[in-house]
Amino acid sequence: MTAAAPGGPPDAAPISRIFHEETKYVAGHMDKFNTATGWKATPSPFKSYVSEGTVDLVGYLPFDRHPFTGGPLPPAPAPPGRPGLSEIARLLYFANGVTAILPLPDGSRHYFRAAPSAGALYPTETYVAVRDVPGLPDGVYSHLVRDHALVPVWEGDCWDRLLRYTGAHPAVDQARVVLLFTAIWGRSQWRYLERAYRRMLLDTGHVLGNAVCVAPRLGFGAFPVGGFLDAPLNQLLLVDESDEAVLALLALPRLDAIDMERMGADVAWPSPPSYGAAPDPAQDLSHQLHRASSIVQPPDAEPPAPDPAALERPYADADEVIALDPEWIEWEGGLEAAILERRSARRFGRAPIPLEKLAAMLSFAYQPAVAPEGRRDALRQLFDPSLLFTYVLVHDVPPLEPGVYYYVPGRHELRGVRPGDFRHEAHHFCLEQDLGRDAAALVIHTTCLADAVARHGDRAYRYLHLDAGHIGERLGLAAVGLGLGASGIGGFYDNEVTRLIGAPEQDVVAYVTTLGTLPARE
Ligand SMILES: Cc1cc2nc3c(=O)[nH]c(=O)nc-3n(C[C@H](O)[C@H](O)[C@H](O)COP(=O)(O)O)c2cc1C
Repeated sequence: MTAAAPGGPPDAAPISRIFHEETKYVAGHMDKFNTATGWKATPSPFKSYVSEGTVDLVGYLPFDRHPFTGGPLPPAPAPPGRPGLSEIARLLYFANGVTAILPLPDGSRHYFRAAPSAGALYPTETYVAVRDVPGLPDGVYSHLVRDHALVPVWEGDCWDRLLRYTGAHPAVDQARVVLLFTAIWGRSQWRYLERAYRRMLLDTGHVLGNAVCVAPRLGFGAFPVGGFLDAPLNQLLLVDESDEAVLALLALPRLDAIDMERMGADVAWPSPPSYGAAPDPAQDLSHQLHRASSIVQPPDAEPPAPDPAALERPYADADEVIALDPEWIEWEGGLEAAILERRSARRFGRAPIPLEKLAAMLSFAYQPAVAPEGRRDALRQLFDPSLLFTYVLVHDVPPLEPGVYYYVPGRHELRGVRPGDFRHEAHHFCLEQDLGRDAAALVIHTTCLADAVARHGDRAYRYLHLDAGHIGERLGLAAVGLGLGASGIGGFYDNEVTRLIGAPEQDVVAYVTTLGTLPARE
């Protein structure tokens, strides 16, 4: 079916490749993704617990009024020490809290979140492990999003366990707060079937992106951790991995106390290779991929490091090279205001966006500009910064000619790939969604899956989608900061995207982010 990845036996495909091929959307062959499920069957996007130990976080938010009821807030509790409950309350809220409530005609309410979610299904859950945090007993808590409260799921100091399960990761070791992000299959799968797994990872990347952006503003360094022992970590959270599983950790050591010398190189653990293991047709593929990409013991050798030069190689001899100016965003009201304001664009105004604004969005997406001066090293972003190739499909970004460009983050440079007006094609490959046609530009993330699997095993599939979601979130926030609109596109005809941008068909399209102007108010 597909070429073997380097390092694998000939003619054997890793399960991530098999999964990816099986979940490609192909025009005219979408029957296998049709669901007969009606809207009424939508699973609840909220967990509920009965617990006497619930900790209300609403009073710690930086608002005058209750964000859900609109009523006055009780006086904020005295800050008990930093980082304390205030910082944790804000971090969780601006990562994935409820930021708007829409009453629906049937009397129910839709709860919009700080982060977008494919189909508004919100599969991502957040847990927080704490130790020595004033006002909060040691333990692991589940974030109850609708109430903005914490519910204990594990009481006591769990750091020994966290360190064991992450190979004594130095950022976990230095942290007193660690976020653990899971995703729940059922919420996404009822609608997206096998392809749900891709969207669960992208959604979780968006939430992680918010948390990384906000963390330094609350006094935390931010270190995403993708290498962990899956089974015991799921057990710690009391989740059954066939329903819900940990996808990523975010270790949050205090910015003013980080020992960077002990932090070491930033490498993501690989999972063992799965070449040649035929999938079981009786089980769903995404669970098989998830299990195959799980880690049962820490790697015995140093995992391969990212290869930043990989992003410099494509189109190195392009005729047209556009060096972008470093452009920064003036965040009116701070980044938090952009998170509160953020909504995915439903339509674009079909007006141009100037090149400086595209440059500013790309800058913010890849450079941790929100880190306090001199502490950029304490704000790591991606599991592997060399995994994703970035293409920009330009429809209307003067003075650029419309066409396909390749973006090199390390150089902040666009390389011309192919000129042309591709609005019609983009409309089609975005499953005929107008956003693809009316955007001023589309940012398309791809990966060479064979190289990625050679480096990280099938776990690469997690890293690349989490990273793509994270970058998508930063692009979306940057758009808000510049008065523009953005929307992720999780549904696209995979091979038609690679064909249009000129990437090898073996490359995996992870995500598409549309960027454009907001429509004029009617
Ligand atoms: C991974 C992902 C894929 C998405 N795909 C699409 C899409 O194909 N078309 C679309 O109109 N919106 C898409 N969205 C946007 C969601 O529909 C939107 O986030 C959701 O309705 C919640 O609204 P909000 O983002 O305004 O809070 C996507 C969002 C994410 C995170």
